[in-house]
Amino acid sequence: MKATLEYIQSNKDRFLEELIELLKIPSISADPAYKDELVRTADVLIDRLLEAGVDFAEQYDTPGHPIVYAECIVDPDLPTVLVYGHYDVQPPDPLNLWDSPPFEPVIKKTEIHPEGAIFARGSCDDKGQMYMHIKAFEAMAETNNVPCNIKFLLEGEEEVGSDNLGDFISAHQEMLTCDVVLVSDTSIISNDQPSITVGLRGLSYVEVEVTGPNKDLHSGVYGGGVANPVNVLCEMIASLKDEDKRIAIPGFYDDVIDLSDAERAEMNKAPFSLEQYKKELNVDDVEGEKGYTTLERTSIRPTLDVNGIWGGYIGEGAKTVLPSKAYAKISMRLVPNQDEPTITKLFQEHFESIAPAGVKVKVTPHHGGKAAVTPTDTPEYLAAARAMKDAFGKEAIPVRGGGSIPIVALFEDILEVKTVLMGFGLDSDDIHSPNEHYGIFNYFKGIETIPAFYKHYADLKK
Ligand code: BES
Ligand code: MN
Ligand code: MN
Repeated sequence: MKATLEYIQSNKDRFLEELIELLKIPSISADPAYKDELVRTADVLIDRLLEAGVDFAEQYDTPGHPIVYAECIVDPDLPTVLVYGHYDVQPPDPLNLWDSPPFEPVIKKTEIHPEGAIFARGSCDDKGQMYMHIKAFEAMAETNNVPCNIKFLLEGEEEVGSDNLGDFISAHQEMLTCDVVLVSDTSIISNDQPSITVGLRGLSYVEVEVTGPNKDLHSGVYGGGVANPVNVLCEMIASLKDEDKRIAIPGFYDDVIDLSDAERAEMNKAPFSLEQYKKELNVDDVEGEKGYTTLERTSIRPTLDVNGIWGGYIGEGAKTVLPSKAYAKISMRLVPNQDEPTITKLFQEHFESIAPAGVKVKVTPHHGGKAAVTPTDTPEYLAAARAMKDAFGKEAIPVRGGGSIPIVALFEDILEVKTVLMGFGLDSDDIHSPNEHYGIFNYFKGIETIPAFYKHYADLKK
């Protein structure tokens, strides 16, 4: 271990430089215009994996973006860890809100990151966190200290729903055989309070279209006489929650398993300052489901949110028009035991049922996924906890996360293995937002923690 940590210390500048190069490639999975850039990113990753010392690394074409697979088998009798990460990134829009261009990484100090943070799209989610694994592996391989077999599965479609990864896993089960999946694509509480994510929410994502009159109309000539689809859509959306901010779709909560009072008390012990939360977001108050704390609302409770809404005239100045159509994109975050297709169907039926007679409604489901919970009484959790303790000098707290990584449930269903969510980002790193950044401290802390995970995992599996 000592030699591995020394290797990391003496190669820090290069490790950072390589990440910066990777962040310059705009691997935006949602936009077909960037297709070649995803291939280019996959090519670079293969080169880097080979340089780091894997036995082989290959690229698999899919109907979408390529999947990268690599492995290093040191001894078939040792446990095997499958590292999953994604090299695709969210679109950087709105570009005008970035202080520096999203694909021209710069290092700047911030209040939370006094050692500096790399500002670039994908720096935290997930190129930076994924690349920590390649560098940690290089450090282990170069110092003859690889205590587990390691497989890498890196995809380019996580941000668009991992549409092709499920089939890939089913088709390559033997190749992907492993004892556990290790993922760094989540956050810790803060740089002096490590945590391990023990749950993710599921997702149902729908797009709705409301059509009123068959064409845009003069809002004076026709206004007041026919249903305005934008007005109607707003009323329909407003009715989806009651005065307690509970979701008013019949049956929505039927499969939700309530946590015990003891479990809730335990999770609310995690350090959290409501004052600081409000200050960071510049809001005078928080809002959410009655009877639950902010920590609970953002992790163990399901939600419904409009992600985008449009229709009518949104250009310069005023145009008097009664629009023909209105649209919204709506996400519902789900908790364990809620079934995505069921919830999507409940939404669809309810939304259609509340539409007034003067409009037509169309609901189109997008990608989604199941929630996941990971137990804390397993060798992999213990190994992650010990590794965090070694690296941070402080005990990690188990925390249920609010985001989604739908593939985690599929690893469990198809490969029948559990996942360890050992992420190193901070919630304040602005992932999916302008000015996404990743702390230099976090990048190197991750690279240091990963070899410790393998060591403890191998020891615990002996
Ligand atoms: N890395 C995130 C998920 C995440 C972030 C989990 C922070 C916990 C803490 C992932 O890349 C992501 O953004 N997932 C999407 C889901 C997907 C289907 C588009 C999400 O959560 O919106
Ligand atoms: Mn991610
Ligand atoms: Mn993401």
